[in-house]
Amino acid sequence: MCGIVGYVGPRDATPIILEGLRRLEYRGYDSAGIAVLQEGNIEIRRDAGKLDALETMVHTQPLNGHLGIGHTRWATHGKVNQTNAHPHIGMTGNVVVVHNGIVENFLDLKAELEDEGVEFKSETDTETIVHLLERHLSTGISLEEAARQAFAQLRGAQAIVAFNRQQPDELIACRIGNAGGVAIGIGEDEMFVASDIPAILMHTRRVVFLESRQIATISQDGYVLRDLNGQAAQADVHNLPWDPVSAEKGEFKHFMQKEIFEQPRALTDTLRGRADFAAGTVDLPQLNLTPELATSLSRIVTVACGTSYYSGLVGKTIIEHIARVPVDVQIGSEFRYADPLVDPSMAALAITQSGETVDTLAAMEEARSKGATLWSIVNQIGSQAMRIADGFISMLAGPEIGVASTKAFTTSIVCQYLLACKIAELRGSRSSEELRQFVSDLALLPDLAGSVLDRDQEYQELAHQFTHYENFLYLGRGPNYPIALEGALKLKEISYIHAEGYPAGEMKHGPIALIDEDMPVLAIAVQDHVYDKMLSQVEQAKARGGIVLALANEGDLTIANKADHVIYVPKAPPMLAPIINVLPLQLFAYHIAVRRGADVDQPRNLAKSVTVE
Ligand code: AGP
Repeated sequence: MCGIVGYVGPRDATPIILEGLRRLEYRGYDSAGIAVLQEGNIEIRRDAGKLDALETMVHTQPLNGHLGIGHTRWATHGKVNQTNAHPHIGMTGNVVVVHNGIVENFLDLKAELEDEGVEFKSETDTETIVHLLERHLSTGISLEEAARQAFAQLRGAQAIVAFNRQQPDELIACRIGNAGGVAIGIGEDEMFVASDIPAILMHTRRVVFLESRQIATISQDGYVLRDLNGQAAQADVHNLPWDPVSAEKGEFKHFMQKEIFEQPRALTDTLRGRADFAAGTVDLPQLNLTPELATSLSRIVTVACGTSYYSGLVGKTIIEHIARVPVDVQIGSEFRYADPLVDPSMAALAITQSGETVDTLAAMEEARSKGATLWSIVNQIGSQAMRIADGFISMLAGPEIGVASTKAFTTSIVCQYLLACKIAELRGSRSSEELRQFVSDLALLPDLAGSVLDRDQEYQELAHQFTHYENFLYLGRGPNYPIALEGALKLKEISYIHAEGYPAGEMKHGPIALIDEDMPVLAIAVQDHVYDKMLSQVEQAKARGGIVLALANEGDLTIANKADHVIYVPKAPPMLAPIINVLPLQLFAYHIAVRRGADVDQPRNLAKSVTVE
């Protein structure tokens, strides 16, 4: 996942930027670079590989200047090489940019710029940004004004930092949507900017977090904040606590809250360099999936625990629908005692955020002993589940500190979606047109997720009405049944309310006896192929005096006439809708737990990684 660091002030920018990038290394990256304004010219050092290589390069070819930007990149559009590493400079040599996010309309912009004679050097979407800036700068306006005009043309979520050698005392920083944060660090006669605050904490605790569609012009004396329309904008100055752990929560009260809101960026990072939305192809080099294996595969057996198990249940629907390969999802702690029917024609897929869950690791060993190919989907790079697998897909969610899993859950579903597309491509399960549609749908995710999170205030107000209940029923069908399970798990594990997820169609086979005014029902009733069935479930619950909260698609007034409360989410492609639908349930559980005074990040009796049976 990409990291950004910038500096302007009286000190040498290079060591400050390199140290800041070092503090962001945990985010995972495959190339790094730095640009410094040196005697009026922009000097760049960048390459594929780790920061050690960049530091060696800077040591042999020193950089000296008081204004600079740096970047660690996880391959987005384009291979991992020096040409695609950031920072990117334009044709005039005046402007240099670093960028997090995905420019969804970059192919159109690139074609337009090439028609104007622009020569692209890299395969990145970022390069379109620097050429757009140069196009507008050529009219004689300031970098900030050029940025406002250029960035208005970008679709998707972005975090951008740039400078113009003809304005040698300032940086500009801009945030659009949720492609990760942009934090401005306020020093004494010096200023910092970073995509995450560990990069600047050693210099200052006074930090301003840009809101979406805000742009800052930063000089060593301070900053000017405007919106993309040029209107003056405001953002609070946070005095971060001195304790680095809580400081890393930034503007959030809890790590869980921060991680819920990081999901648009995490989803972007999970997709980066893997999904080519235009070509409709997927690239998963670390999975080591050969065409022979893909075509000979008879079944996938998914093994996981807790939230990761629910992710596997969602993934079953996705993989069977897209790749047409049967998927069995097994609970890790049950699998190895069940003498499972696994053979060499199968692949065992372990889903584990920590990569160290003992039951999941044991299930992996059991599957290997029966000859299955071993895959894992992990978040912790270097974990056991990653190392012992024949191939893996990293979630790239970034560190998940909160014990209750949120961004690892949603990114692990995206990893299964990518796996499904890759298998379908190699097996020929789907036409190239169908595959192109499945892959291009993924580009919608970060923005859809961001739009759900923008409704947090609504979800919080609703959650506060349900803080005192001691029982809850969550209902769902199809791929939303595991989302009901996950929503219930979130509520029970952080608020200690007894919450149960249930397949909605099973209500009349017993659980409906539970329903009364003390047992609220949360029904996932989005407009999919089983919407009508969910509507009747809502009616049945109401008829028994139940209080019903319906999770529904924006604009659905039918459900509003039936349920007591409605949690609206945007409509999403059916195979991606579960990822969107879980977000309000994460926030609903979070706000209830906070109101109940629970220890949200460290719930009682729970550990982040269950390394014992
Ligand atoms: C998730 O909210 C829980 N904390 C727990 O169920 C967790 O998902 C489970 O322990 C599996 O962890 P893993 O993904 O690291 O294997």
